[in-house]
Amino acid sequence: MKPRRRREMNMSKETFYVTTPIYYPSDRLHIGHAYTTTAADSIARFKEMQGYDTMFLTGSDEHGQKIERRAAEAGEEPQQYVDKIVATFLDLWQRLGIEYDQFIRTTDENHQRVVQKIFQKLYDQGDIYLDKYEGWYCTPCESYWQERQVSEEEVCPDCGRPLEWVAEESYFFKMSKYADRLLEHIKEHPDFIQPESRRNEMISFIESGLDDLSVSRTTFDWGIECPVNEDHVIYVWIDALSNYITAMGFLSNEEKFNHYWPADIHLVGKDILRFHTIIWPSILMALELPLPKQVFGHGWLLTETGKMSKSVGNVVDPLELIEDFGRDAIRYFLLREVQFGSDGTYSTEALIQRINSDLANDLGNLLNRTVSMVEQYFSAVVPAPAAELEVDRDLKETARETRERVAEELEGLHFTTALEELWQFVRRCNKYIDQTRPWILGRDENKQERLGTILYNLLAGLRQIAVMLKPFLVDTPEKIGRQIGAQQNIRRADWEDLADWQALRPGSRVDKGEALFPRIDLDEYFQQKQESSRQKEQEEEQEEKKKESGEPDNLISFREFKKLELKIARVVRAERISGSDNLLKLIVDLGQEQRQLVAGLAGHYSEEELQDREIVIVANLEPAEIFGVTSQGMLLAAEDEDGSLALLQPETRVEPGSPIS
Ligand code: MSP
Repeated sequence: MKPRRRREMNMSKETFYVTTPIYYPSDRLHIGHAYTTTAADSIARFKEMQGYDTMFLTGSDEHGQKIERRAAEAGEEPQQYVDKIVATFLDLWQRLGIEYDQFIRTTDENHQRVVQKIFQKLYDQGDIYLDKYEGWYCTPCESYWQERQVSEEEVCPDCGRPLEWVAEESYFFKMSKYADRLLEHIKEHPDFIQPESRRNEMISFIESGLDDLSVSRTTFDWGIECPVNEDHVIYVWIDALSNYITAMGFLSNEEKFNHYWPADIHLVGKDILRFHTIIWPSILMALELPLPKQVFGHGWLLTETGKMSKSVGNVVDPLELIEDFGRDAIRYFLLREVQFGSDGTYSTEALIQRINSDLANDLGNLLNRTVSMVEQYFSAVVPAPAAELEVDRDLKETARETRERVAEELEGLHFTTALEELWQFVRRCNKYIDQTRPWILGRDENKQERLGTILYNLLAGLRQIAVMLKPFLVDTPEKIGRQIGAQQNIRRADWEDLADWQALRPGSRVDKGEALFPRIDLDEYFQQKQESSRQKEQEEEQEEKKKESGEPDNLISFREFKKLELKIARVVRAERISGSDNLLKLIVDLGQEQRQLVAGLAGHYSEEELQDREIVIVANLEPAEIFGVTSQGMLLAAEDEDGSLALLQPETRVEPGSPIS
């Protein structure tokens, strides 16, 4: 998969490798999924600013029975089915400004090959053996339950849906063998599992005893074939968890692998923490590989009606939110609202509240007031600072403390507190305006130097804010930069550039733009939403009625038909288009003008046969780029069932450009 951000591996830099889980393409992603990815993106951006060779991996987990079934329901091949859904993931990440370095799919050839090698190695060394599995299985959760864990209702203890009783031959991984070593590792490395409370949960789980793990299936086919027995496919956890090392070149590119592994952080939701802190480290131990430095289990993003689920109908669509509020507002909300580690609630009211108070009021007003004053008092030119007073020194000192605290909080993945610290500085800058009262100095010609110093400090404070925002938000830092005349400076700035308070050049120009975050009226927003959903419903109803009435649904009105401009054109010459077997470029004469069209005629007509022919074209079609050639219209031809083509042409010769009506 093409990365959003292409960077070379840099052997001389220290690495920072962060991962999100790979997502199931069984559905569209919701805002809860976007939560982990935004957090990972934020920490990766921060580490990059600190000068690390950063690797941010995300991807899709594409095998399993659930996907096989859904594909069958959709009447598609599993690969075709997952390809379509994975395309929606990539679109969402792009819209949200997620700049991953690599996107792994478990259907990638390299991944499949290396997973087979891993399975083979564990089998050869006696860590995988054949046995029989019998027990309860939850297909939606892809998890097995022991009899003692299941109540009389025979439903999944996690999701409450009906379980299936399965009995099958299966390969098992000797996980129990690694339990003691794992426990020791967890106890000796307090940072390995975070947050603390979840670490204790995992310790008690291991202490209660670990069973060996079933790692193959015979009940479905959509998976990586077992290298030691073609009747089995490798079950989800060896396949999915291994993505973190196969993507880094394990057993395929040792230089890359040694450079990036072990991962610094695996970010995962609390529901899959167990797999990442028990199964995954055991597999790594068996492979004699170092363990990741940390696995962080964050909480759930819930809605007011509980956990998001399609059947409850409370799934929050991130695309709709991005469309309505912009990606930076969503990113800010996700990182600011919920303590990373705890559960939190999404509500549109809370989102709008954050936009209005933090983004529009605190930050937007600071920028707006500052730039307006520079325009008013210094004709939009950044003034030079002069002698400092105590209040200025205090502002600078607060900026220094803020950048230290923000960095410290980010290191610990405390996004909420990091943003809180940053906002205290935003408010401090607003307070500086109230303390220094530039509007009063503005009335006094002798106070220009002092006024200039104050406004310079405000611009410098805004530059600090914009640079500190770079790990969190993607558009706002440069938008601030554009307004304070420092766009390039902010684009290039690293974390250490914050040390330079005076990086803004006096003499450059500020440029007041649109409000960073317009205020949103809660009632109006909901009214509009209601209105548009009512309209949508009506349209759907009409559509439905049309269908029921048996009326063809592709009728166009006479007005629509009149829009179509059909004309006679004479082919001046035809040429082949390099790189394509069936396309030709035609230069056609339309009387008043010549145009170029791209048409799929090669193989049906030779270039010579076409020359001087009169044809019919749609002259007012939007131009399109085809194989790097612009096509300014479309010719008309008939195609019969066996694929032969016949060009439409006038019965007698007419003037090129003649309209057809
Ligand atoms: N495919 C497995 C992960 C394999 S990793 C080797 C999987 N996929 S998932 O698509 O179901 O979930 C991916 C991640 O999204 C998980 O970390 C899960 O916790 C997270 N979330 C799903 N819904 C969520 C919320 N409502 N809130 C926060 N995170 C949630 O599990």
